Amino acid sequence: MSKNEVFEQRIKALHQMESNAAVKQHIKGKLTARERINVLFDEGTFFEFDAFVEPAQSAMSGKQSVFGDGVVVGRGLVQGRSVFAYAQDFTVLGGSLGYAHGMKIAKIQDMALKLGAPVVGLIDSGGARIQEGIKSLSAYATIFKNNVRSSGIIPQVSVILGPAAGGAVYSPALTDFVFMTNQTSYMFVTGPDVVKEVLNQDIDMEGLGGGNVHAQKSGVAHFVYDDEEHAIMYVRKLLSYLPSNNFDPIPISKNVQFYESRQEFLNKIIPDDSNRPYDVKDIINIVVDKDTFFEVHEKYAQNIVVGFARLGGKSIGIIANQPKVMAGTLDINASIKGARFVRFCDAYNIPLLILEDVPGFLPGIDQEHSGIIRHGAKLLYAFCEATVPKITIILRKSYGGAYIVMSSKNTGGDFNFAWPSAEIAVMGPAGAIKIVNRKELAAATNYEEMEKMLTEKYKHEIANPYKAEELGLIDEVITPSSTRQTLITAFDILSNKQYSKPARKHGSIPL
Ligand code: HXC
Repeated sequence: MSKNEVFEQRIKALHQMESNAAVKQHIKGKLTARERINVLFDEGTFFEFDAFVEPAQSAMSGKQSVFGDGVVVGRGLVQGRSVFAYAQDFTVLGGSLGYAHGMKIAKIQDMALKLGAPVVGLIDSGGARIQEGIKSLSAYATIFKNNVRSSGIIPQVSVILGPAAGGAVYSPALTDFVFMTNQTSYMFVTGPDVVKEVLNQDIDMEGLGGGNVHAQKSGVAHFVYDDEEHAIMYVRKLLSYLPSNNFDPIPISKNVQFYESRQEFLNKIIPDDSNRPYDVKDIINIVVDKDTFFEVHEKYAQNIVVGFARLGGKSIGIIANQPKVMAGTLDINASIKGARFVRFCDAYNIPLLILEDVPGFLPGIDQEHSGIIRHGAKLLYAFCEATVPKITIILRKSYGGAYIVMSSKNTGGDFNFAWPSAEIAVMGPAGAIKIVNRKELAAATNYEEMEKMLTEKYKHEIANPYKAEELGLIDEVITPSSTRQTLITAFDILSNKQYSKPARKHGSIPL
């Protein structure tokens, strides 16, 4: 065979492998690794390398050797910006991670870190390759170390498109965002068979670690979609809000539109009865650029809403209490969800908008015994630590510790505004008058009437935004319909924010 023929034969063998993979994956309603890569990248921009890397002999005993060792790696463009990606091929030894496979992933992690570009992992894997033993485990360790080294420097995204079992779950867990698909992706440390054997519990793969379980219950998945194409297309959308690395500026969109006619609606969105709920997402969608709000962790801890949006074309991160769910109280899951989002935005210089309506931390034996003190401290820590521009708007309730936590002035809030409906105080009227006016209430001939009168007095004299405004703790009480314009101006003022931190290795967040 001539040299050219040898070369062509190798290419032909690679194409044949891809066709065989397509048959196997399409039967299951799944795409091949290269098809997934093509959905992720701008057309024709993917540059693949290491396609002919061979697996270890031990993995292939008795089998025909294959090229690539079950993973496709390379670099392409997403909306014109450089992104590195790997896609595991389940048709090769179940996408399991052997040494060569692992080193291909580690190679693009190294390149992405050097070049300041995000990494996207498209995962479909049975975990550590059993035949390769310790070599496979050491390859995973290298990937995990690289995940941690890159954390806060380049965005890292994992998309689970099949099984992610054993070691396959820990790289996603170390990355910034996890996407899953419904009914076709699973994440678990040990599968249903082991659960049955060890604990005698019956559960299937979907029930143990399906997309909805991780999106709603564990919080491991930030996003879940019905099919692979949607999941991958939304990775493109997510990347459109993020800088390529922690030194690059945030992306700016030139196409700025907003709901001009709806701004007035904000003046009547807060119900007269302060115990009545409303949907904070309505406020977000009116204030930010038209249709740019992209919610993160939509199904998890819904009492707090977090996500990206654009304001005047620039990316911002939003953290908002949700009065519609559990009255917007802060519980353990909401604190963790909020803290993680704040820290991500801070790492990538994405300014923060905080919309506050929170009666306090959730009381209860379960919350206390599960560590609401420790977990609530994470959110407090994250806001105090964040040096990006931070603007808080108090929409309604802002009581006690929750007032302090949600980026209050003295934790380092740059601008703190309030709507006239704001109630800022140490505690809500119901609790406060029972302590401060105990004697009057005990002596009252008509308890209910006295309670009502004292509540109104408390709201009028104490639980309003004006005391805080007089102390400079609220920079200005604003008309709700002016919120968008106020925010654009305030973020503009803060755009050159400088900060200095005392030297240290790193802080010690209460994990
Ligand atoms: C080697 C593997 C493999 C693995 C699957 N295969 N997992 N080969 N190492 N870890 C191979 C199978 O032998 C099979 O090969 C092919 O991939 C397809 O697998 P099936 O079982 O036929 O597919 P399916 O029924 O869809 O089930 C997929 C699966 C299951 C749920 C992922 O294969 C499974 O449970 N695999 C083991 C998962 C696991 O326990 N991994 C943990 C490893 S320990 P043939 O030749 O028959 O087609 C680990 C520890 C690391 O990861 C810890 C780091 C922190």
